[in-house]
Amino acid sequence: MHSVIGMIIGALVVAQAAIGSQQLHTRQDGIAELLTDINQISQYWGQIAPYRDNADSAFGVNNVGLPNGCQIEQAHSLQRHAQRFPSSYFDDGINDEKFAAKIQRQTRSSSNSSFTGPLAFLNSYQYQVGESYLTGIGASTEFESGVAFWNRYGRTVLNATVGQLQYNASYENATARPKPVLRTTSQSRMWNSQISWALGFFGPSFYETPMPGLDNFVNGSLFDVVIIPEGGTENNTLAAYDSCFEDLFTPLGLIGDDDAFLFYVPMYLADATERMNQYAPAGFQFNVNDTFAMQSICAYETGYIGRSDFCTLFTEDEWAGFELALDAEYYYDYSWGNPTGRAQGIGYLQELLARLQNEYIYSSNSSVNASITKNGEDFPLGRPFYADFTHDDIIISALTAMSLDYFREHPDLNTYPPDPDRHFFLSKITPFGGRLITEVIGCADPNPLEQHNARTQYYPTQYGYDPANAPHKFIRMRLNNGILPLDTIRGGQCAGRTDGMCAMEDFLASQAKAEELANYHFACFANYTLDDPFNGNDYDGTVNRDTEGITLYNGTITAEYVEDVLYG
Ligand SMILES: *[C@@H]1O[C@H](CO)[C@@H](O)[C@H](O)[C@H]1NC(C)=O
Ligand SMILES: *[C@@H]1O[C@H](CO)[C@@H](O)[C@H](O)[C@H]1NC(C)=O
Ligand SMILES: *[C@@H]1O[C@H](CO)[C@@H](O)[C@H](O)[C@H]1NC(C)=O
Ligand SMILES: *[C@@H]1O[C@H](CO)[C@@H](O)[C@H](O)[C@H]1NC(C)=O
Ligand SMILES: *[C@@H]1O[C@H](CO)[C@@H](O)[C@H](O)[C@H]1NC(C)=O
Ligand SMILES: *[C@@H]1O[C@H](CO)[C@@H](O)[C@H](O)[C@H]1NC(C)=O
Ligand SMILES: *[C@@H]1O[C@H](CO)[C@@H](O)[C@H](O)[C@H]1NC(C)=O
Ligand SMILES: *[C@@H]1O[C@H](CO)[C@@H](O)[C@H](O)[C@H]1NC(C)=O
Ligand SMILES: *[C@@H]1O[C@H](CO)[C@@H](O)[C@H](O)[C@H]1NC(C)=O
Ligand SMILES: *[C@@H]1O[C@H](CO)[C@@H](O)[C@H](O)[C@H]1NC(C)=O
Ligand SMILES: *[C@@H]1O[C@H](CO)[C@@H](O)[C@H](O)[C@H]1NC(C)=O
Repeated sequence: MHSVIGMIIGALVVAQAAIGSQQLHTRQDGIAELLTDINQISQYWGQIAPYRDNADSAFGVNNVGLPNGCQIEQAHSLQRHAQRFPSSYFDDGINDEKFAAKIQRQTRSSSNSSFTGPLAFLNSYQYQVGESYLTGIGASTEFESGVAFWNRYGRTVLNATVGQLQYNASYENATARPKPVLRTTSQSRMWNSQISWALGFFGPSFYETPMPGLDNFVNGSLFDVVIIPEGGTENNTLAAYDSCFEDLFTPLGLIGDDDAFLFYVPMYLADATERMNQYAPAGFQFNVNDTFAMQSICAYETGYIGRSDFCTLFTEDEWAGFELALDAEYYYDYSWGNPTGRAQGIGYLQELLARLQNEYIYSSNSSVNASITKNGEDFPLGRPFYADFTHDDIIISALTAMSLDYFREHPDLNTYPPDPDRHFFLSKITPFGGRLITEVIGCADPNPLEQHNARTQYYPTQYGYDPANAPHKFIRMRLNNGILPLDTIRGGQCAGRTDGMCAMEDFLASQAKAEELANYHFACFANYTLDDPFNGNDYDGTVNRDTEGITLYNGTITAEYVEDVLYG
């Protein structure tokens, strides 16, 4: 944190001076201290931040060890895709492209005037970024994630032997293991993320005897994949907005984007925009959307080509503003700030609860597709691990549907610089390659003593675990390694422990009301509008006919209606 060397630029001169970080937040006489350390800058990139493990205690759980007599017996991973090109939202890729076109119009039309100072690179700049696809850096993030999942869980849930580098399709006794089933959506970046994750986890590029054709991998003998269509009106718990029709229409589906882009961006980027305009040629004006694009392009170029000339143009506060804008976008689109926040996450939660109880789901009242969840081929039960590939927002909506109130904190759209002591940081919740891992832990004791320190478990029985004597099951969740405070789940069923563990039956009880709260059919299909969408309202992620501030009309929004109006 404190090793940052700031660079000063300002109204007076482009100064040579570099000053220490103790003055990081000071701005005097129009002088702004710019952040230049990319490791620090990139922590402010919200959902487009590169993956970093959170500290075990990042979410306030201080006893982070596994108690004696306990071991992880099953792991469910909900894995986000990694670095991608920007998407075609008005405040994302579209805004970046508009900015690039504006620069190009200027530099093509006017050979006389040019950008100066730190913006001189714009005179010859070309925007090289595409849209939507997973990048090479993204693929390597997923590969690393697959390796990390093996390294963390292979020894405990898959009985890895000494020196075993990757998953082995057979047990010690050479009998085949049941084939793992990975699930992804059909979207290019998602499916590619699953492929690279699997390359890391199943490890065919680092066998003892090199297998250049990756034959095991290629012939499908190691694992199966269920590819759930995305992009229409289908039920898909890993892209649940598709079947939550109300959310497909504006403004409801975009209230977070509008809060962030139309309200917060003009506030926090006013100074930066003025600063940029000092280096603009006569007749050219940057506006706040342009300045926002410069921050966004910095992040996307870094996720694509590994660097960017846009990154060193902003102060730490301005990066913190960028982060808050993104936090607000997601909070009000997909979490407690949106009437469909819970509905968009309930489907995955139902699937998780079904797997935890070894039950199929035979009929759906959510984004679950019961054709998938009622058969063991697509939805096998009792497996040592699960891996599902999804989007950032689904992870957030699932935590919302769970009522994990630790994160129920409205980003404050009226404060700049933002409060650094808040809980809802997208960069910690869903960076590129983010992952929510639900661990099922078996213990000998019904109330095992909390263990303060993290301990490497070199082998499963190291601290007294005995698989034949572990009748007491617990749930613990890790979000990008940080242990989630399950004791903050509303209702208090998981209260009592200080190590993030919650007894299985208590966890199930804590979720008994989740479906009712999500009110899926009403939230997603009723014909309602929000009277005042951009008021930072707390909908608690749900809505019903008595919710204040909605107007309910006749009719329901059907798949046919959506296909007609949106895809017709
Ligand atoms: C560039 O400068 C020349 C000479 O001063 C002038 O004639 C011309 O109009 C200028 N072009 C633009 C686009 O400003
Ligand atoms: C786990 O590994 C040990 C030692 O390699 C072996 O004795 C045991 O049979 C294995 N258990 C299973 C379930 O494969
Ligand atoms: C997998 O395990 C079997 C049985 O122990 C062993 O024969 C085989 O070599 C292992 N395969 C790999 C790729 O390690
Ligand atoms: C091989 O080991 C697995 C795991 O312990 C067990 O389920 C299976 O029955 C064993 N197969 C044989 C042929 O012993
Ligand atoms: C896949 O390839 C591996 C390695 O060549 C081979 O051992 C295995 O039998 C093959 N499986 C199938 C289903 O073709
Ligand atoms: C459910 O999945 C099946 C295939 O598994 C598919 O044919 C069907 O269209 C899906 N239904 C919905 C509503 O998405
Ligand atoms: C920024 O973009 C938004 C959305 O496209 C637009 O409504 C707004 O007017 C733009 N702001 C400026 C200053 O151009
Ligand atoms: C919704 O489906 C789940 C899973 O099948 C079931 O347990 C629950 O009772 C259903 N809820 C309603 C309101 O139909
Ligand atoms: C898809 O979701 C709707 C709404 O919850 C549900 O009525 C329908 O049964 C689901 N379709 C399948 C195949 O599960
Ligand atoms: C809604 O439907 C009811 C019953 O069909 C009808 O009496 C009422 O006038 C309708 N309301 C509106 C606003 O269309
Ligand atoms: C929703 O209500 C509005 C206002 O009455 C009406 O114009 C619209 O057609 C309704 N939509 C559907 C899908 O029924």
